[in-house]
Amino acid sequence: VRADPFAPPDALSELREDQALRRLRYPDGHLGWLVTNHALGWSVLTDSRFSTRASRCPVSDPEKVAALAERGDDPVMSGFLLTMDPPEHTALRRMQTGRFTIQHVSQKQATIERVAESCLDAVEAMGPPVDLIATYAAPLTSLVLCELLGVPSDDRRHFERLTAIRSDPGATADEDQAACEDYRNYVRGVIEAKRADPGDDVLSDIVAREELTDDELAGVALQLFGAGHDTTATQLAMSVFVLLANRREWERLSSDFSMMGSAIEELLRYLTIVPLAPVTRRAREDVVIQDVLIREDECITVSLGTANRDPEKFERPDELDLTRDSSGHLALGQGRHMCLGQHLARLEMAIGLKALMMRFPTLDLAVAPHDVQMRDEAAIIFGPEVLPVTWS
Ligand code: HEM
Repeated sequence: VRADPFAPPDALSELREDQALRRLRYPDGHLGWLVTNHALGWSVLTDSRFSTRASRCPVSDPEKVAALAERGDDPVMSGFLLTMDPPEHTALRRMQTGRFTIQHVSQKQATIERVAESCLDAVEAMGPPVDLIATYAAPLTSLVLCELLGVPSDDRRHFERLTAIRSDPGATADEDQAACEDYRNYVRGVIEAKRADPGDDVLSDIVAREELTDDELAGVALQLFGAGHDTTATQLAMSVFVLLANRREWERLSSDFSMMGSAIEELLRYLTIVPLAPVTRRAREDVVIQDVLIREDECITVSLGTANRDPEKFERPDELDLTRDSSGHLALGQGRHMCLGQHLARLEMAIGLKALMMRFPTLDLAVAPHDVQMRDEAAIIFGPEVLPVTWS
């Protein structure tokens, strides 16, 4: 459990100081490795001798994995970039990158601004106090995703339900299965609709190429819906939370939006909302790191949170400093699997924070910071469950 909701658990940070590469017993009982500092984290993520294939299972709840395996349901979905290696990964990623470049994403600026303002209209109409996640962070990022993927805004309930269950470590295999089934049916409908009536969006692009099976297409869509909204919503909510808990930083940023670029990188570094679970690789051959032998087939997990607070890489790492140079942080990964949606996430953050600060300059937490209820430590994305705010 974290003493400070914005910092990695102390026990993990202590490992970094003591021995940054050490054995890790995964929940299914098998023995692998854990990396807690920046230099080793970076080198594992950029080393092609490590594979992401079949690497997600060992860190999940072993009972859940066993229940899914008994049903013959492969927990690794096809079409999922994060579980693929080259050359399949390269080909599938290339099909999508054009829609996620800075140039392409900046064309969406006006759309994102419009969505942000309309969410804020609703927040204002509701009056304080509100849960900023349910009323702003979640709808903003989901509605932008709907626009980007060319699906009606009501469709957000389909992917929100699935990602909520996926990010809840307490969810059972049955709940997971039911949400997956509902989602697969939904996505099949989306793919059919794109086939019949293609739009100007990444899913239509891929459907039109006729290179992927329907299962692979469903996987691509699942990954974009799944990776695209809870991440950005949580990053936005956590950013507002930490800025309100450090009021001076909130005032500093709202009086000078020219520091937004560095502020966003620093908020990504400082908060690192993807702490551990998905960032696991498997050695494709024997690999020696710092005189330590990682044997073929062994798994290695990178703790992004402690890597981003490594004093060897960042001066005064535990201090939030919106004007520092945080480049090289690992909050969006590194190497070939580095976040596909990173430019979109940054733009949504910049627009989302600025619109909020301009509309509600007096925004404040409606509860004490330590009373903000956080997600379970084992959640794939770490952040507040709800963020009660108020204004005058
Ligand atoms: C602040 C928000 C976000 C954070 C913190 C984040 C974080 C990450 C991280 C850490 C990875 C790499 C994981 C690994 O190497 O194991 C990743 C990959 C990925 N992200 Fe994001 N992400 C965010 C937003 C988005 C958005 C908006 C989208 C799409 C709309 C997206 C799509 C993806 C995809 C498709 C991958 C897999 C890339 C690959 O395997 O080649 N993410 N993200």
